Amino acid sequence: MKRILITGSLGQIGSELAVALRARYGADNVVATDIRSQGPESVTGSGPFEKLDTRDGEALSALISRYRIDTVYHLAALLSATAEANPQKAWDINMGGLWTVLEAARAAGCAVFVPSSIAAFGPGTPRDNTPQDTIQRPTSMYGVTKVSGELLLDYYHLRFGLDTRGVRFPGLISNMTPPGGGTTDYAVDIYYEAVRHDSYSCFLSAGTYLDMMYMPDAIKAAIGVMEADPARLVHRNAFNIASMSVCPEDIAAAIRKFQPNFSLRYDVDPVRQAIADSWPHSIDDSVARAEWGWKPDFGLEAMTRDMLTALGKRLGTKAVLS
Ligand code: NAD
Ligand code: SER
Repeated sequence: MKRILITGSLGQIGSELAVALRARYGADNVVATDIRSQGPESVTGSGPFEKLDTRDGEALSALISRYRIDTVYHLAALLSATAEANPQKAWDINMGGLWTVLEAARAAGCAVFVPSSIAAFGPGTPRDNTPQDTIQRPTSMYGVTKVSGELLLDYYHLRFGLDTRGVRFPGLISNMTPPGGGTTDYAVDIYYEAVRHDSYSCFLSAGTYLDMMYMPDAIKAAIGVMEADPARLVHRNAFNIASMSVCPEDIAAAIRKFQPNFSLRYDVDPVRQAIADSWPHSIDDSVARAEWGWKPDFGLEAMTRDMLTALGKRLGTKAVLS
């Protein structure tokens, strides 16, 4: 049985990944950590929880030793919009934290999962059906830290034999924990506002196509790549994974199938628009499919039905589902 430690476990991904990992490997075998201690009871109360700043290597190594950890899911990071507002802090947390995690994992012989992102690509990257191996010259600080992280993971595997793995997540859409300051957050906000007000003002412009994914598929990918047969892995980390490429009007049209009066307008934020314009429209995930059998379960319509149903129940408003 695996013994897992998760960093940044109270965020959008961690709060759902912690629950899924505990269900799969046993609650006591999954130690959730975060720099803060206030978060969903489903994480802090369903198994071991520890406060941890990932830049504190001694504290991290002590937890790895105390809980006999063999696998680290490293999620703590600043996302694109937050990182662009404070690039120095983003480098400190995203790279400083990753370095600490890799060094602690090297000392203890742990496997490590670290997510990269569609942000690891830049304006020089082919925009449509972006290949697994291609030009990566991102223009956001978040993207710079993601490419650097991908390279470090490869380096630690080649140089020290560490079992480092990861995927490039698209923008993730979920209904349990709000996103933490990304450029793709509109695709989450739009569902909350649809349920609350039947309308949404979008900070990205019409026609901004980006890859998105529903959280259950992201969790499936994070677990799947770590359970993959290493003999089949040629790439090991930073696998492109995809399920849908959508723009704001596509999501609005999907919502209207359930809430016909839903209205969408635009109030574009130039900073986040510039970041979005530097990212691919759609990425090619054929390498992940071939090397470890990646396959998503949700498309836009199934995700929209699920999001509106879950949020309708939670927010106490009636989403009209036909
Ligand atoms: P999030 O912002 O929702 O959560 C990050 C968590 O990290 C927060 O709970 C925060 O308190 C914690 N944290 C911040 N600094 C820390 C530190 N120094 N030490 C310990 N904890 C710290 O982010 P998320 O969406 O859950 O993303 C997790 C990972 O997945 C990140 O690496 C992110 O880049 C990547 N990713 C996310 C998306 C997405 O759409 N959510 C897409 C691509 C990649
Ligand atoms: N959802 C993330 C962001 O927008 C992509 O990595 O920052």
